[in-house]
Amino acid sequence: MSAEASSASNDNTIPASASTDDERAGVTVVHHYPLATAGGETAEVAEVAVEQSSTMEASAEEHLSVDDDFRLDDASSYSDYDDQSDASSFLSSLLSSAEDYYWENGRRYHAQGGGRYLLPNDETELDREDMKHHMWMLVTSGRLHLSPIARDPQKILDLGTGTGIWAMQMADLYPSAEVIGTDISPVQPKWVPPNLQFEVDDLEEEWLYKPNSFDFIHVRFMFLAIKDYPAMLEQAYKALKPGGYIEMAELDLNPTSDPEAPDAEKIFEWFKMQDAAIARAGFDMRVAHKFRSMVLDAGFQDVEEHVFEVPWGTWPSEKRQKAIGFWHLEQLKQGLHGIAMAALTRAGWTVPEVEVYLSGLRKEMNDKSHRVLDHGYVVYGRKPRH
Ligand SMILES: C[S@@+](CC[C@H](N)C(=O)[O-])C[C@H]1O[C@@H](n2cnc3c(N)ncnc32)[C@H](O)[C@@H]1O
Repeated sequence: MSAEASSASNDNTIPASASTDDERAGVTVVHHYPLATAGGETAEVAEVAVEQSSTMEASAEEHLSVDDDFRLDDASSYSDYDDQSDASSFLSSLLSSAEDYYWENGRRYHAQGGGRYLLPNDETELDREDMKHHMWMLVTSGRLHLSPIARDPQKILDLGTGTGIWAMQMADLYPSAEVIGTDISPVQPKWVPPNLQFEVDDLEEEWLYKPNSFDFIHVRFMFLAIKDYPAMLEQAYKALKPGGYIEMAELDLNPTSDPEAPDAEKIFEWFKMQDAAIARAGFDMRVAHKFRSMVLDAGFQDVEEHVFEVPWGTWPSEKRQKAIGFWHLEQLKQGLHGIAMAALTRAGWTVPEVEVYLSGLRKEMNDKSHRVLDHGYVVYGRKPRH
């Protein structure tokens, strides 16, 4: 992306739907971006600055109507951000050779901590991660971050960087910054922008970074990696410079359904089971709505919460929401096997039992009459300047 895009990236306009929090007025702001219910109200679009994207239109409050045709249109090819990262200059980054993997039911997992991480780290999963990034860029109107960080950040940390796609795009967007992406799995590419390096590290261990050294710390899609969010936030607080920002982005996996649409029985049953299996492993797939309170408790100021409705499938009529729904459902379907196989077999299911169950579930997910949606959260806060 261009330096122009970079320098303008901090002027995010607060959407019209913003409201201050009653309990801690002046400290935190909440923004909601609702979809329309069935029946299709008229779109009410407010302007949001989308300086990080060169091509897209953004909306702060979107009331969308249902697409009665259920046609896919060109949802799969729709893109409203211009991904220039492929064209970036490259230098190599050293990766650890600590490839500590094992195979279970045909999927490759990281073995650190006795296979504590429930998702595989094979190519199928990495493709899904990039798909999720694409979906999230549509959700956030092409913005890699919502925090109003400085125009020339010096140091940025991406915790649990995964494929490293966010870190690579940030390194391109902010040439001034040294970007570090950490992960327990060294699955990131070797050829990356010169101002980016990947490190193998466990974020739940003690961090060895210099206190007060980062301008920005980013934590996205990590609910299956972080058991103790307050401990992570405490370490992030120490590592951030005064005035630096923490940003947490996550899907709160607590889907809701339009009451006027057919009941998505299997989907809700699956979520209940999955929730229990994940809780047994010590994680919380419905943690995102608690971020705002956690970030406040950790001592951050000017905390903002942005809540987006993320449809399952192409049922909304509006083109961008249709594309978001397409990619979200695709990543869920692709992820189903990896997500369910480890969690359920480790909870005592046999592999054939899981496969039969998943095929019934996939059928329901492909049924386009359902109108299910998740909520996506972005919460950020600033470390006090003094
Ligand atoms: C769902 S991916 C998120 C990828 C990335 N943050 C993104 O938004 O594209 C979660 C990542 O967290 C990593 N992870 C799991 N436990 C971890 C830990 N304790 N410390 C660091 N990374 C961890 C996994 O290896 C995986 O790559």
